[in-house]
Amino acid sequence: MSARRARLGVLVSGGGSNLQALLDAAGQADYPAEVACVLSNVPTAFALERARKAGVRAEVVDHKGFGSKVDFEAAVLGVLADAGVEWVCLAGFMRLVSADFLKRFPGHVLNIHPSLLPAFPGLHAQRQALERGVKVAGCTVHYVDAGTDTGPIIAQAAVPVLPDDDEASLSARILAEEHRLYPLAVRLAVTGAVTLDGARTKVAARVTGDAGALRSPGAPK
Ligand code: GRF
Repeated sequence: MSARRARLGVLVSGGGSNLQALLDAAGQADYPAEVACVLSNVPTAFALERARKAGVRAEVVDHKGFGSKVDFEAAVLGVLADAGVEWVCLAGFMRLVSADFLKRFPGHVLNIHPSLLPAFPGLHAQRQALERGVKVAGCTVHYVDAGTDTGPIIAQAAVPVLPDDDEASLSARILAEEHRLYPLAVRLAVTGAVTLDGARTKVAARVTGDAGALRSPGAPK
C-alpha cells in the first residue's frame, strides 16, 4: 500500500506556473503530497485551467463578492476544509492572508517569492532587484507569518543578474528556479525534514540528498 500523502490547497490568482510545478511533482508516485484543491480569487486565472486539466478540484472565491476580508477568508477556509486540506501553498496569490487565517493552519502555510528574502519583499521584487543593481537574484520558499514575505525561510535558489537584463528576462530566469524550488520545499516541509525553529527553520540531519540540492554549487560538501 502506498504511503499517505499530505493534502495541499494551492491558492492562486494568475497563470499558475508554480501550481503546474506542484501538480507535476504530485504526479510522481513517490511524491509525499497531492493537490487536493486549487482556489483562485480571480475567476479568469489560467491556473484554474491547469487544475481542471490535472483533474483537481478548482474553485473560485472572488474577493470582490465579499463585503469584508473576514467574510472572504471565511469562504476560502470553508472550501479548504471541505477539501480536507492540511497544507496551504500560496502560489502567486495576490491577497495577504490574515493572522486569523494563519491560526487555522498553524505552521502549515507556505509561500514562494521571487527574491532572495529578506531583500525585496512585496510587489515587483524583480524590478526592485534591478533598480538596486544587485548582481545575484533568486527566489525563496518560506513559511507564512503575519508580515509580508517575512516568515522563516525553507529554501532559496540564486540566479545571476546579467548586464542586459530587463524585468521580463530576469523574471523568467527566476521563475525557472521557482519551479524547481517549490516542489522541493514542499517535500521538505510535509515530510518534517524541515521544521520551524523560532524565526528560522531547521533541516533534519537525516536529509542528505535534498539538503545537497539546497546548497549553493560552490559550498563545501
Ligand atoms: C511567481 O513569481 C511567484 O514567486 C510570485 O508570483 C508569481 C506567480 O507566478 N509570488 P505563477 O502564477 O506561478 O506563474
